[in-house]
Amino acid sequence: MSHCRICGGPVREFFDFGRQPVSDVFPRPEEIGTEHFYRLAVGFCDTCTMVQQSQEVSRDRMFPADYPYRSSGSALMRRHFEATALHYLETELRGDDPFYVEIGCNDGIMLGSVRAAGVRHLGVDPAEDAARVAGAGGSRVHVGFFEESTGHRIRETEGAARLVFSANTISHIAYADSVFAGVRALLAEGGVFVFEDRYLGDIVHHTYFDQIYDEHFYLFSVRSVQAMAETYGFDLVDVEHLPVHGGTMRYTTARAGERTPRESVPRLLAAERELKLAEWSTYESFAAKIESNCRELISLLVDLREQGKRVLGYGATCKSATVTNYCGIGPDLVSFVCDSTREKQHRVTPGAHIPIRPPESFASPYPDYAVLFAWNHAEEIMAKEQEFRAAGGRWILYAPDVRVV
Ligand code: SAH
Ligand code: TYD
Ligand code: ZN
Repeated sequence: MSHCRICGGPVREFFDFGRQPVSDVFPRPEEIGTEHFYRLAVGFCDTCTMVQQSQEVSRDRMFPADYPYRSSGSALMRRHFEATALHYLETELRGDDPFYVEIGCNDGIMLGSVRAAGVRHLGVDPAEDAARVAGAGGSRVHVGFFEESTGHRIRETEGAARLVFSANTISHIAYADSVFAGVRALLAEGGVFVFEDRYLGDIVHHTYFDQIYDEHFYLFSVRSVQAMAETYGFDLVDVEHLPVHGGTMRYTTARAGERTPRESVPRLLAAERELKLAEWSTYESFAAKIESNCRELISLLVDLREQGKRVLGYGATCKSATVTNYCGIGPDLVSFVCDSTREKQHRVTPGAHIPIRPPESFASPYPDYAVLFAWNHAEEIMAKEQEFRAAGGRWILYAPDVRVV
């Protein structure tokens, strides 16, 4: 049994995916076999309710200089972060010389809008290649991991931040104590620390089990984030449920006693009680549903192979690493995966070693079926690939249920 990284209490494991590769490192064909594997297992802390992994992968392995993920690859996410930036430019970032800090800015998808408004800003991200893209767009980025010392250093050299924002990053950082201590040092009085991450309630109730992979060390809920914030001297003062990435929650925190919590906090805590995220039986049912979805997916793919159908994948996502490696899906079942990210093309998927090709390869000729690994971008991808369905092709989805559409 492992111990909770937040409160030290015992963590009960509810699912073990076994040996899994680091999900966002795509080997070149000649590098196959050099990947780093670890045991991917998730558990529930009976004390503070935080869902978390049993084993931590080192941050240098997960986020090397050539980390290939590029946030701006999705039009939906570009719109989401433009709207988010606009919202904060009209609220927290108004007034005299506000300072904006972003943890995990990646290619500058959000930072760019803050910069364009002429607001003083600094992004922090260890992924040097992605950060260079943000820098080329004119944004200021510090290449490195945010931790306690970073917060102190930025405060000393650049002053206090009115808003510290982070999307899809805080849940990736096991050393939450250090991050909160850094933010605590960096925030201006009355300032806020806002972060958004995949929501545990959606993951469990829609069986989005592929959201479980190395980078998602924690799966946050409103209750567990409130407990975590309080542990580190913060209050949870606002929460907002957003549709992106299959269901995301945005948490607004402030130093304890500095802001009055909005009604959204008790409202969403009450909604969450209906989801029974603090009950062990919920995780037992989730585990059983993961098993049955995986069994059905495999038997579908094996049937299609026996019928001589051609099957491809769409989206070389981190999420797909869990699906392909746990279900044992290799190039014998899915011949290749199309992905628009140049940094992933002509490499292979981690562990399962399915070749990755540019989206242009999808149409020549269209396959009979395509597993939509980037299901969170379904609307955008299905719109781009309308002709696939028109030509008789069918999409395969594996959550909430295995379906052919
Ligand atoms: N915010 C973007 C990127 C999310 S990917 C979006 O929502 O699309 C997660 C990013 O966090 C990666 O670019 C990774 O390099 C970065 N990251 C990981 N650990 C970090 C840390 N301790 N401090 C700052 N950035 C970190
Ligand atoms: P995403 O689901 O955002 O993230 P994760 O890796 O965290 O699971 O990744 C989407 C992937 O899908 C990314 O590699 C880019 C690719 N993609 C396309 O190939 N075409 C598209 O139209 C879109 C929107 C994404
Ligand atoms: Zn705990």
